[in-house]
Amino acid sequence: MSSRNITSVQDAQPPSSNNPASGDPLLDIRDLRVVYLTTRGPVKAVDGVSLAIRPGEVIGLAGESGSGKSTIAHAILRILHPPALITGGHALFSGRDIMKMDDTELGQFRWSEISIVFQSAMNALNPVMKIRDQLLDVMQCHGLSKSVANERAVHLFDLVGIDPQRLEAYPHQLSGGMRQRAVIAIALALNPDMLIMDEPTTALDVVVQKDILQQIASLREKLGFSILFITHDLSLLVEISTRIAIMYAGEIVEKSPARELFEHPLHPYTLGLMNSFPSITGSKHKLTGIPGSPPDLVDPPAGCRFHPRCPKVMAICSQVAPSTRLISPDHSVSCHLFSQ
Ligand SMILES: Nc1ncnc2c1ncn2[C@@H]1O[C@H](COP(=O)(O)OP(=O)(O)O)[C@@H](O)[C@H]1O
Ligand SMILES: [Mg+2]
Repeated sequence: MSSRNITSVQDAQPPSSNNPASGDPLLDIRDLRVVYLTTRGPVKAVDGVSLAIRPGEVIGLAGESGSGKSTIAHAILRILHPPALITGGHALFSGRDIMKMDDTELGQFRWSEISIVFQSAMNALNPVMKIRDQLLDVMQCHGLSKSVANERAVHLFDLVGIDPQRLEAYPHQLSGGMRQRAVIAIALALNPDMLIMDEPTTALDVVVQKDILQQIASLREKLGFSILFITHDLSLLVEISTRIAIMYAGEIVEKSPARELFEHPLHPYTLGLMNSFPSITGSKHKLTGIPGSPPDLVDPPAGCRFHPRCPKVMAICSQVAPSTRLISPDHSVSCHLFSQ
């Protein structure tokens, strides 16, 4: 259970969270494995992923579409449905294994300790309910009185930068950016310790995207929650994240503090991703992209899964899967170029 008292949800308590480098992980994902059972065979969407997120940290998870990012998010929240099947691993949240929680525990856990912002605000919101009622629903379901919830709804709209009068609006009466802010307000309704954001700005134009990213960063500073920020666009992570994990074909291939990753990317796939998007900060570089497309995860390539697309491929790459090697205290990579 969260240590917070949900009858009087307080915002201004960035806990130990302002020192991201210290302490036990808030979320510790260990060797997570998820398949989708299809007629063609199991799709190995997440294949042995380990990732720790410390209190107050913003972890960026980046990789091309189809690499397994959303599957990780949905597994952490236990919102996967058949044909998905979690076949192994653990996800410890403040030491408790999410994979072992029963429905009652999960009901308490979601929203109050961890919540998610999906890519499409339009799909996350109920089109025939006023935004106020959707916010109140979440809070009242978790035991807040109507008057406390109403007060908090106004406060939340202030926090995410929408005029509280817009609480009376239906989703279609708000712009795309405002809808996504409303979804963020709902995700923050119970002051969770962690927010998962799954491509939260992908559907928005670049200017709105940048505004919302700034808003998220300032909310995090004020409230102290951790963020798992998922995107296919690595350039979005420059300013917002403390550490970055790069995912390819169901596996994490590189993990590093954000600045170090941008200054010294190691994995050829990371380099390819960096050259796939224009920088949101406006600095110019030639975009080359990554030739080819991600593999079929029913039958991924032997050895290193990236080898058929890798510009630096060597003979060993198609035969042996690279082990993960620590290059500096917090920077690891799985690539034969860096194994001895
Ligand atoms: N319901 C499903 N049935 C079968 N395969 C799926 C299903 N959902 C996702 N997949 C496959 O799982 C892999 C990972 O998907 P996903 O987690 O959505 O990736 P990402 O979020 O990185 O784009 C992809 O190969 C995708 O095709
Ligand atoms: Mg996705």
